[in-house]
Amino acid sequence: MNTGIKCFMFLCIFLCMRVCLCDDYVLDDRGGLGESFDGIGGLSGGGATSRLLVNYDEPFRSQILDYLFKPKFGASLQILKVEIGGDAQTTDGTEPSHMHYEDDENYFRGYEWWLMREAKKRNPNITLIGLPWAFPGWVGNGESWPYSFPDITASYVVSWIIGAKEYHDLDIDYVGIWNERNFDTKYIKILRNTLDKSGLERVKIIASDFLWEPITSAVIADRELSDAVDVLGVHYPGTTTTPKAFKTGKKLWSSEDYSTFNDYVGGGCWARILNQNYVNGKMTATISWNLIASYYDNLPFARDGLMTANEPWSGNYVVESPIWITAHTTQFTEPGWRYLQSVGHFTHGGSYVALTDGNGNLTIITETMTHDHSKCIRPPLPFYNVWAQNVTFNLKGSFADISELQVWYSKFDFVTNKTLLFRNLKPIKVNEGSFSIEFDVDEVYTFTTLRNGQKGSYPDPPPSASFPKNYKDNFDVLEHPHFSEAPNFADQTGVFEYFTNLTDPGPHVFTLRQVVTQRPVTWVADADQTISVIGDYKWQDLTVSCDVYMENGYNDGVFIAVRVGKGGGVVRATKGIFFWVYSYGTYKVTNDLSGTTVLAEGFSGTRANVWYTLTLTVNGTHGSAEVNGYPFWKNEALWMQENGWAAIGTSSFQPAQFDNFAIEAV
Ligand SMILES: *[C@@H]1O[C@H](CO)[C@@H](O)[C@H](O)[C@H]1NC(C)=O
Ligand SMILES: *[C@@H]1O[C@H](CO)[C@@H](O)[C@H](O)[C@H]1NC(C)=O
Ligand SMILES: *[C@@H]1O[C@H](CO)[C@@H](O)[C@H](O)[C@H]1NC(C)=O
Ligand SMILES: *[C@@H]1O[C@H](CO)[C@@H](O)[C@H](O)[C@H]1NC(C)=O
Ligand SMILES: *[C@@H]1O[C@H](CO)[C@@H](O)[C@H](O)[C@H]1NC(C)=O
Ligand SMILES: *[C@@H]1O[C@H](CO)[C@@H](O)[C@H](O)[C@H]1NC(C)=O
Repeated sequence: MNTGIKCFMFLCIFLCMRVCLCDDYVLDDRGGLGESFDGIGGLSGGGATSRLLVNYDEPFRSQILDYLFKPKFGASLQILKVEIGGDAQTTDGTEPSHMHYEDDENYFRGYEWWLMREAKKRNPNITLIGLPWAFPGWVGNGESWPYSFPDITASYVVSWIIGAKEYHDLDIDYVGIWNERNFDTKYIKILRNTLDKSGLERVKIIASDFLWEPITSAVIADRELSDAVDVLGVHYPGTTTTPKAFKTGKKLWSSEDYSTFNDYVGGGCWARILNQNYVNGKMTATISWNLIASYYDNLPFARDGLMTANEPWSGNYVVESPIWITAHTTQFTEPGWRYLQSVGHFTHGGSYVALTDGNGNLTIITETMTHDHSKCIRPPLPFYNVWAQNVTFNLKGSFADISELQVWYSKFDFVTNKTLLFRNLKPIKVNEGSFSIEFDVDEVYTFTTLRNGQKGSYPDPPPSASFPKNYKDNFDVLEHPHFSEAPNFADQTGVFEYFTNLTDPGPHVFTLRQVVTQRPVTWVADADQTISVIGDYKWQDLTVSCDVYMENGYNDGVFIAVRVGKGGGVVRATKGIFFWVYSYGTYKVTNDLSGTTVLAEGFSGTRANVWYTLTLTVNGTHGSAEVNGYPFWKNEALWMQENGWAAIGTSSFQPAQFDNFAIEAV
């Protein structure tokens, strides 16, 4: 392009901008409506993303739940999707299965039941979805694949749905297949059959929580499969769908989306996703991974939740911008409302959607997000230029007589990083069915006939604080009656749960027990050892002690550790200072979980079915380790792992118990 033409083009653009970027948009229902809206939701799990939430004291825990679920208060979520725990690592930790073993059933493990009950308490209409990421080893019959015995897998999943009703009075509305892994058409049909035979015809199936293909083609090619599947759910669709998927006539959902750091950038990405998933992709539900960032910051995908609550010890939590961006839609719609056919992009960038209850109510949501799509970490969204612009909406059909609309407003300023979130502005007058508004860039507006929106608030929570450096837990279950896991322990491989041994004469009646005894059908590369981390990732110098009890005489080992540097899907590669004892009478100090870098080893005389107190102290470049107060390893030079969590664990998938865990600052 020569300079002359370039100049001419710039002049044109410049003139256009000066004159008026003003355009008319018609909102009309006379030609029929668009798709039915199914809601906006959050995903707890995949995995352990709500782990620390349950350990908050009241009133903070209830306040956080209100910001998420209470209608017309905060995010006012319409969907809660949870992981069906499978005893394996699923991103930020493991979640327990309701059936660790084939002959085992327990519907009170973990925190997802509790979370669903709390959500329902606040919003009885909330849609509930369950999806497995991983399965206990017996479900896969020892294979790394859950479909070899599809009847077993289906009855395992359906038992979770039945248990939800029987023990918690929770109606699960949708169930999925296997998160972001291959589906098996035979399994999907058997799952449908098993649901129907169990009187659960109303439970719908989402497939396949991965990409548009191959599920779309499979549904088109197979009538029976098509009958079994109600929703095509895809992950991180980048707001777009395929014509083929649309032709199936199935509901199209973004069943996992967002996954962006939840500062102002995250809120902006979320605003664009929520509108454009429908505008570009005709997707009628969008679910955020994740619901709430309630996991240690140094686990993978820190703060990729709608808000943050990962300091139960301080009570501090942060209501982040995605909460209020969600409210722009959720407080002024309900699942079952219909999109108007007239939705789309503004000529000068940004997008609008409009929804109606079919009863004269109208909600319009607009967004003019500019920011670089590369900042929306997942997915990279299509990039559009966005300008400030004047817009006129012309309301026709059922909406022609509307005379006033309530206005809710958010603004992101990417120069100052300041945000205005969910402000209730003066109502706007509609004259003869039309109103005009000047949009700046990076704004979100809701215009609605509904008058009962609210920016809910509570007094500021306590200030943020580090994990206490002196910490003790004797795992006395009577002090923590509600959950199966001990506060603040974040299981990274294996499952550690409260155990009561009534035949123990004391003092070890109440303990914490690692219970996974077979490698699960994993979702990522779980370690070959089990491990649960706790504390402050910045920790360097401290003493950890814990009573340990090996239950098997053969090839069994347990450890305590400090400076543990990695969790999540890479936990098997973590370094740290690990102190192990084995039931065949030896001890070891290693620099990694896999046990390959040995700092010291020798005879300890330890055996199974005896309690021992292990102590590990690390100070700068030196460490020491004791069994029952006897030093096996004394002030020895360390290899370097600078900092990390404290941890407990076992040398393999074996049951073992822990008691009187204590951390002390050096
Ligand atoms: C639940 O849905 C019904 C029917 O749409 C509605 O009338 C009611 O207000 C809803 N309740 C809540 C708490 O949102
Ligand atoms: C809008 O919704 C409200 C509250 O649900 C309802 O009372 C009213 O009849 C609806 N229709 C109009 C036109 O406002
Ligand atoms: C919008 O319209 C007003 C009034 O006509 C005008 O002053 C303003 O420059 C316009 N804004 C844009 C972005 O075109
Ligand atoms: C705004 O945030 C960006 C990215 O975090 C940062 O680079 C920039 O310095 C911030 N600007 C201000 C004024 O704080
Ligand atoms: C329970 O305590 C008894 C008595 O100390 C002991 O023999 C038994 O091994 C314990 N059971 C487990 C599973 O720890
Ligand atoms: C820790 O190390 C520092 C310096 O290396 C030393 O001064 C201090 O006494 C040590 N503390 C303990 C409790 O060993």
